[in-house]
Amino acid sequence: MDYHITLTTPRLTLRPPRPGDEDDLMAIHGDPEVMRYFSERAWTDPARPAQQIASDAAAFAAREHFRFAIVLNETGRQIGNCGLVRPHWPNRRCEVGYALGRAHWGKGYINEALRALLEFAFVELDMHRLEADVDPRNTGSTGALERLGFQREGLLRERWIVGGEVCDSLLYGLLRREWEANARQDR
Ligand SMILES: CC(C)(COP(=O)(O)OP(=O)(O)OC[C@H]1O[C@@H](n2cnc3c(N)ncnc32)[C@H](O)[C@@H]1OP(=O)(O)O)[C@@H](O)C(=O)NCCC(=O)NCCS
Repeated sequence: MDYHITLTTPRLTLRPPRPGDEDDLMAIHGDPEVMRYFSERAWTDPARPAQQIASDAAAFAAREHFRFAIVLNETGRQIGNCGLVRPHWPNRRCEVGYALGRAHWGKGYINEALRALLEFAFVELDMHRLEADVDPRNTGSTGALERLGFQREGLLRERWIVGGEVCDSLLYGLLRREWEANARQDR
């Protein structure tokens, strides 16, 4: 399989991260509002984007995780990222993660990007189940998952401690057969 894979949607291109993405990546993850419900605080270290790009590119090649830059075709700039992380190959499951720069919320971009990512997960990687772990207060994220057919499966109490703040997690899941049924309805 080609791990330099590119996924295309009407408005977006999803491709592995690469040098040159640093400024766009910092604009996304350096924003405390974007990082409000993330498992880490907003980035402040100017070296961080280059480190992340290098580790994501290496992980892509090693099949350890698959984090795509989301590029807006109209401008050629990276507006976010989405990925499949912590793959558990024997059970054919992995976790989904995503973020968009604040200026790009409310336009359906993560919906469009994740539709392509889910197809990559279920068809190319032959996954059986996808999971997402979301702070219950993060209604932008729970809404995005529910629009894609993810089911709310449980509440994990006090699962994260980020910058001293103890946070709960909602666990969401999407099974391959549910995704297939949704894809048939969309046709
Ligand atoms: C989570 C996040 C990506 C969701 O972004 P989003 O833009 O709200 O999500 P979607 O792409 O599903 O867009 C849906 C919204 O776009 C609107 N929209 C506009 N044009 C649209 C189109 N062509 N297609 C679909 N929806 C469209 C929808 O009506 C909806 O608006 P609403 O939220 O007011 O109801 C964003 O809030 C984010 O980056 N948050 C910070 C990072 C984060 O928390 N990540 C998740 C960690 S678990």
